[in-house]
Amino acid sequence: MNNLPDRMTILKNTPLYKGGDLLIDVGCATGYFEVALNHKYKKIIAFTPEEWEYKKAKKEVSRFNNVYLYHSSFGNFDFKDLQADVVYLGNCIHYIFQEYKGFDFVPQLIKISKKYLIIEYPYDINLDASDMKVLKGALQAKGIDELFTKENILKQLKTEFDLIDTLKSGSTTREILIWKRK
Ligand SMILES: C[S@@+](CC[C@H](N)C(=O)[O-])C[C@H]1O[C@@H](n2cnc3c(N)ncnc32)[C@H](O)[C@@H]1O
Repeated sequence: MNNLPDRMTILKNTPLYKGGDLLIDVGCATGYFEVALNHKYKKIIAFTPEEWEYKKAKKEVSRFNNVYLYHSSFGNFDFKDLQADVVYLGNCIHYIFQEYKGFDFVPQLIKISKKYLIIEYPYDINLDASDMKVLKGALQAKGIDELFTKENILKQLKTEFDLIDTLKSGSTTREILIWKRK
């Protein structure tokens, strides 16, 4: 991931690094945040749908008995009644948006976030790219309100959360949105 040391430095000032009982790291890539944060949480649940990432992460985190790693997307993950102190979505909300073809994942996200929700908001999806035709069609069928924009992310979450901070991040990420449950 580009600029990882920079991003980690920026994230050090957020609730992600304060720790707690449970962290859910959505789209955990190769497990670098689990390596960095395992000593701060009683338990970390992390998952990625990418098989190569999952395999690499598995090797990285096998030495930590409080890190639970899964090979899954957000939509396929069985959250049961889990509620985390911190839910972290690092540069992956746009993929979840694509998986659900809209914001239907938000109620689940709200349900699992007990205190803080940290979203690293990436560049806008280019809906005119050739691999986005299916998504674009699905979104158009749903109406303009469903488009993946920062305004719509804010609108989806602000009924349950207060946006307590917005940080600038490295070149692969525009902003880090820090939310606290009302
Ligand atoms: C750009 S990487 C970011 C990795 C890491 N969270 C970070 O901030 O450095 C995107 C991650 O999201 C994962 N991802 C892609 N689609 C996903 C989905 N539908 N549900 C959950 N994670 C997904 C990818 O496998 C990858 O691990």
